[in-house]
Amino acid sequence: MLFRTALALSLLLAFCDALSRQKRIVGGYPSLLPKSDGFNDNQPSGNSGNSETDENNVVQVQDDYRSATVTGVEEPEGYQAYKGIRYAEPPVGRLRFQRPSFVRLSGKIDATKFGSPCPQLSSDGSGLVGSEDCLFLNVFTPLKKLKNSKIPVLIWIHGGGFFSGSALQYGPAHLVKNNIIVVTIQYRLGSLGWLTSNLKELPGNVGLFDMRAAVKWVTEYIHHFNGDPERIVVSGQGSAASAVTLLAMSDFSKGMISGIVAMSGSPVSAFAVDPAPKQTYQNMTTLLGCDQSVPLEAIRCLQMLSIQTIIDSDFEYQNTKLGNEGYLTGLGSLLNVGPAVEGNNDDRFLPNFILDSPLQLLKKHKSPKIPMLTGVNKLETKSGILGKYQDQVIDNLNKIPDYVNKVLPQKVLNTNTGFFEDGSVNNALKNLFENIEYLNLFKPKIKTGLKELVTKVMQGTTDALFNMPAFFTSHLWSARSNTYFYSFEHKPSIKSPGKWFLPNILGNPNEEVSKNDGTNSQHVREPGHGDELIYLYDVRSIEGKQISGTELKDKKDIEMRDNFTSLVAEFVKNGKPKLKILGDEWPSFTSSKQSDYVVLGENSRIGNKFRFCEMGLWGGVPDILQSTDCHFQGISDILKTVPDLLQNGVLGEGVVNLLPRNPIDGLLKNGKNPSLDIKNVPLLDTNLGPTNGIRNTLASGIKRQDATTRPPNSNTQKPTNIRSSGFGTVSGFPRPLFG
Ligand SMILES: *[C@@H]1O[C@H](CO)[C@@H](O)[C@H](O)[C@H]1NC(C)=O
Ligand SMILES: *[C@@H]1O[C@H](CO)[C@@H](O)[C@H](O)[C@H]1NC(C)=O
Repeated sequence: MLFRTALALSLLLAFCDALSRQKRIVGGYPSLLPKSDGFNDNQPSGNSGNSETDENNVVQVQDDYRSATVTGVEEPEGYQAYKGIRYAEPPVGRLRFQRPSFVRLSGKIDATKFGSPCPQLSSDGSGLVGSEDCLFLNVFTPLKKLKNSKIPVLIWIHGGGFFSGSALQYGPAHLVKNNIIVVTIQYRLGSLGWLTSNLKELPGNVGLFDMRAAVKWVTEYIHHFNGDPERIVVSGQGSAASAVTLLAMSDFSKGMISGIVAMSGSPVSAFAVDPAPKQTYQNMTTLLGCDQSVPLEAIRCLQMLSIQTIIDSDFEYQNTKLGNEGYLTGLGSLLNVGPAVEGNNDDRFLPNFILDSPLQLLKKHKSPKIPMLTGVNKLETKSGILGKYQDQVIDNLNKIPDYVNKVLPQKVLNTNTGFFEDGSVNNALKNLFENIEYLNLFKPKIKTGLKELVTKVMQGTTDALFNMPAFFTSHLWSARSNTYFYSFEHKPSIKSPGKWFLPNILGNPNEEVSKNDGTNSQHVREPGHGDELIYLYDVRSIEGKQISGTELKDKKDIEMRDNFTSLVAEFVKNGKPKLKILGDEWPSFTSSKQSDYVVLGENSRIGNKFRFCEMGLWGGVPDILQSTDCHFQGISDILKTVPDLLQNGVLGEGVVNLLPRNPIDGLLKNGKNPSLDIKNVPLLDTNLGPTNGIRNTLASGIKRQDATTRPPNSNTQKPTNIRSSGFGTVSGFPRPLFG
């Protein structure tokens, strides 16, 4: 009897135990999702050190605060990996939507398994993956560690439109081979990372604060992994490239970062910040069913929602937005909740992260004096236009008369919110486009078959939504530090490899454009958004699983990977990228005032005047539009009908000055006839070297004329100056200041 009671009791206890383990609501707040199989849960008090591991995989940490032992693994690809290291408390319960709470290394840390991705839709859209407990980073180091050597560090922030992706997708073997340390980090996504009421209850930009906390972790701990805390380059692609620039421009990361790599994204990209975060907040809280009238109640309500509800609402919001605004938003703008400009600190609360619009920050020279490597892919919007949005694009082309000439430019201008914050210049540009035939500007007599038109849509949207932001960012960044610009033009032998990295953004691009068109289909092989990533990282699924067929086999592809990883590693080490074939020459973007860049591809070369006339058009720069480079017929007369544009240019003072000076500029501003009065032109600051600018006969004529009057020092920007840009020079990496 006693025995049976005891048995019943213990069964009951076991049952209760099981119940309580399953129970998901703790004190009114939902607890974490159960771990997906195989992920590290790396609790701060973790005690699961693997006793059999090789000593090489163990890192001992002893600092002022406490001691820790981090046990990683040696990977078959030939590097050491320390995975799933927690850098912040799980952002759950009352910590949800709040800035991250930094976690120090302490005790025994099992770093042999990745931490979970942040919650998001699975790439096939069928369900939810990830866990709210996702603030992990991974450290990958070369196998051979020379004693006392300090290895430069590349931090990688994954893209995915601020709502998808994970650090697990990026296999770092080929970068680490170049003898650098790679650290991949995760940050909160979707509403969980970015929803803001702009009140202290819901401060917003917590995803950026996550990134910053991870960078801080690296500055504090990387020397234990033989890393050099004074050479930390932060990099990212797409939305993460924008985030990296925002991070670098914030006081919060002062002195922590010695260079940035921004691939296919900039602070003035339309996807960099949400232009209307208040509206987004209202829409989201309404969707989520939380009353927003009392801020404290709204946040409590939002903190109690299930992850499923939040992810579903994010998805629904995206679809509504796409439905309302069309495919251009999907191609180049924010589809969902994202970073928000908070404005100046008001001293009532913790300091803000983004104090002004990114364009203003750049114009006011708030960029730090650290070098930037940035660039774009040849046909960024290809994958979206041939993928997720193909039907919409073709539908527009078939149904809307003169779609490419008239409708598209207007819509693109409206989409370009990173630039046209001030509606007046946007209107001026609208007038400009109303007066010209966009289709005939660059390639007279373009055929108007569907295929050509689709290609034109790809080019136009790539120019406006990707190239132009990168172009102006580079000009503005160059005002303070060297900016190295690439145009990635290698044609992958694999079709659209970017789709593996960005499945939730690109869908499944079909490279054949042939629908409803009599002509034969033809591959569009130019690299689109994300297609360069396979040349830096081995790709895995969001949950870190192998994806079959993704390994590079083609000889040229492998060569490209060698070239790309080594040029990035070179930038991490020395603050300047380097391509063997170019020797030491990689001119900074404005070193000759010619928008110098490097074409990456089979025949890598230095180019100048990067898509110059296109940039002039989409950016509304009168100097460029009227320059002899562009041959825009009748443009002066058209410009006279657009006084706003003539007066300010799109960006106003501060940018136009960085462009090659054409004598017409300045004169027109004063309302004079451009063809007269060349003698009164202000000194040209154009350094027209032997390889560039020869086409610009007008400007070179002026240069000769100026040679006698030019002060002796104004023409000293010779290639020698460009070359000396490594550490220890003014333009190389500064030494970070800690504290
Ligand atoms: C946001 O709310 C406004 C006002 O209710 C509505 O007009 C708009 O369609 C909503 N947008 C989205 C993307 O749900
Ligand atoms: C890689 O660089 C080498 C020179 O170092 C060059 O010959 C080759 O064409 C490049 N390949 C690609 C695909 O970029």
